Amino acid sequence: MIPTRKPLDVEEIRRRVEALGPWFHNLDLGGVRTAPGHFLYDYPEQKWRRFAHALPADLSGRSVLDIGCNAGFHAMEMKRRGAARVLGIDSDERYLAQARFAAEVNGLDIEFRPLSVYDVGSLGERFDIVLLMGVLYHLRHPLLALDLVHEHVARDLLVFQCMQRGSPRCEALEEDYDFYETWPFELPGFPRLHFIERRYAGDPTNWWVPNRACSAAMLRSAGFEILDHPEEEVFICRRVAAPSGAGAVYPARGSAA
Ligand SMILES: C[S@@+](CC[C@H](N)C(=O)[O-])C[C@H]1O[C@@H](n2cnc3c(N)ncnc32)[C@H](O)[C@@H]1O
Repeated sequence: MIPTRKPLDVEEIRRRVEALGPWFHNLDLGGVRTAPGHFLYDYPEQKWRRFAHALPADLSGRSVLDIGCNAGFHAMEMKRRGAARVLGIDSDERYLAQARFAAEVNGLDIEFRPLSVYDVGSLGERFDIVLLMGVLYHLRHPLLALDLVHEHVARDLLVFQCMQRGSPRCEALEEDYDFYETWPFELPGFPRLHFIERRYAGDPTNWWVPNRACSAAMLRSAGFEILDHPEEEVFICRRVAAPSGAGAVYPARGSAA
């Protein structure tokens, strides 16, 4: 807990929320909604309620890294479960300012730092639980990000969530196919990553949207065993050894650093 300070009154919270906007996380800060007109309504609370049961209820003594933390909704939930240390990182300073304010209003001791997922190696630290939620489809290099998370910061659990489009099916595929066997690529449940050249949902930062089979396959390929899949977009994984030949080539391999 942050040392007790005089609680902010509702008018002051409203003023700060307005000044820090626009918000993506629709938080309830002392009765003030941060994004009352959110296109996904009560987000991320309503989605969180669908998979919160799949995460350990008691995080005492554990460390958590929330990558792409935005205004800190999940980081705050982790702290409320007793995590000893929670670090939220995001590439956007405006969201970090929101997160710091939200944590202050809620009296939660969480560190927030500006950092891209591509730079997690600079943290020099592993975390018991890493959250990578709603970030992958914003990346031009999604597998590189998963490889870096595996190589540098994940110690045990990875909580992964991604917007998905296309078929929800997952085909059982063979280990290998002959060069002339092209039919597997036509299966609806073949792992497929859809490239967005311009924008999707009005957002030019949406780059790659997987189908469900592709989310699962990319996680496995980066060395994350899927333990649970409590919601269609959410995967609870454990870090295991990466398949041989996999792994980030930058910056760990071929670098003098
Ligand atoms: C859709 S929001 C998801 C927020 C939150 N994790 C959630 O699940 O509600 C995506 C967040 O990822 C952040 N982001 C995008 N690219 C990033 C990068 N390269 N490194 C770290 N954060 C990034 C954005 O600034 C934004 O806050």
